[in-house]
Amino acid sequence: MIEKNVLGESKLSDLKFLKKGKVRDLYDFDQKLLIIATDRISCFDVILSSCIPYKGEVLTRLSAFWFAFTRDIIDNHFITIDATQFPPSVLKYKDSIRGRAMWVKKTQPLSVECVVRGYLSGSAWKEYKNKSSVCGINLPSGLKESDKLPDVLFTPSTKAEIGHDENISEKEVQKLIGVDLTQQIKEKSIALYKKGAQYAESKGIIIADTKFEFGLYEDELILIDEVLTPDSSRFWPRNEYEPGRAQSSFDKQFVRDYLISRGNLDKKKTFSVPLPEEIVQRTSRKYLDIYRIITGKDLIQ
Ligand SMILES: Nc1ncnc2c1ncn2[C@@H]1O[C@H](COP(=O)(O)OP(=O)(O)OP(=O)(O)O)[C@@H](O)[C@H]1O
Ligand SMILES: [Mg+2]
Repeated sequence: MIEKNVLGESKLSDLKFLKKGKVRDLYDFDQKLLIIATDRISCFDVILSSCIPYKGEVLTRLSAFWFAFTRDIIDNHFITIDATQFPPSVLKYKDSIRGRAMWVKKTQPLSVECVVRGYLSGSAWKEYKNKSSVCGINLPSGLKESDKLPDVLFTPSTKAEIGHDENISEKEVQKLIGVDLTQQIKEKSIALYKKGAQYAESKGIIIADTKFEFGLYEDELILIDEVLTPDSSRFWPRNEYEPGRAQSSFDKQFVRDYLISRGNLDKKKTFSVPLPEEIVQRTSRKYLDIYRIITGKDLIQ
C-alpha cells in the first residue's frame, strides 16, 4: 500500500497566486515563479476528484532530471527544487510542497504546444487512417497503428485555455510567433525528443510522442513547463510493443480503462465520482515505476 498525504490544491495563502492549470498551481514572484505540481490527475481533459499519491513529486523530479539532461540542447527555466533555496516567504510551506515545488524563471510563454511524434498514435493515427497525412504532412501508405514513423514529426497545436488543443500547420505557427521563432522551436523540439527518446529506449521505454513548451526570458528562447513526463508524453513499455493496435500507456491506462468500463464518457459530470482505491494505488505505482526506470533512483524506499 502506497501511503502519502496527497495534495489536490496548494493554497499557499500568503503568496501571490498566478494561475491554476489542470495539474499545477503557479505563484508569481515577478521575475520568477514557484510551480507546485499537485497530485491532481486529468483524463479525457477533465480533472478527476481523486488524487494520485506521489504524482506531483514524480512529475517535478522527473522534469528536473530531463532539464539537466537536455541543457546542452537549449537552456530552460529550472533553477532549483531545493526548498532551502526558495525565498523566505515560501519556507513556512516547505513541508506541504517538498519535492513537488520548482523554482523557475518566469517567461512569456509562446502560445504554441510543440508536439513531436516518433510513432503513429492517438489523433495522428485517426487523421492518417482517413487522409494518409498527419497534421497535413503526407505520409507513405500502409502504415499501421503505433508504427514507428519514417521521420520524427513536428505537429504543433494551439494552447487552448479550456478543453482540447487544436492541431495547426507550421504556416499558422509562423503567423502566431514569426518565421524565426517557428524554425527555432521546431529544431529544438525535434532535437529534445530525439535525445530523450534515445535515452528512454536504452531503459526499455518507447516515448511515442511528447509535448514541449517554450517561453521568452529576457528575449531568449528557453524550455519551460514540464519535460518528458508521463503527463506530457506517451510512454510505452518496449517489451509489450506491437504495432497494429493501440498500446497501453504506462501511467493512466488503469484510470482510462476504469472510466471507459463505467460508461457515460460524454457525461463529464460522472468523472467527479472518486476512483476505487485499487485504481489509485496501481496508478501511483506506475508513476513511481517510470521515475525509477528513467532516473535509476527510487523515490520511496
Ligand atoms: N517558466 C514559465 N513561465 C511562464 N509560464 C509557465 C512556465 N512554466 C510553465 N508555465 C505555464 O504553467 C502552466 C502549467 O500548468 P498545467 O501544466 O497544470 O497547465 P495545463 O493543464 O497544461 O493547461 P494550460 O497549459 O492550458 O494552463 C502552463 O500554462 C504553462 O504554460
Ligand atoms: Mg501542462
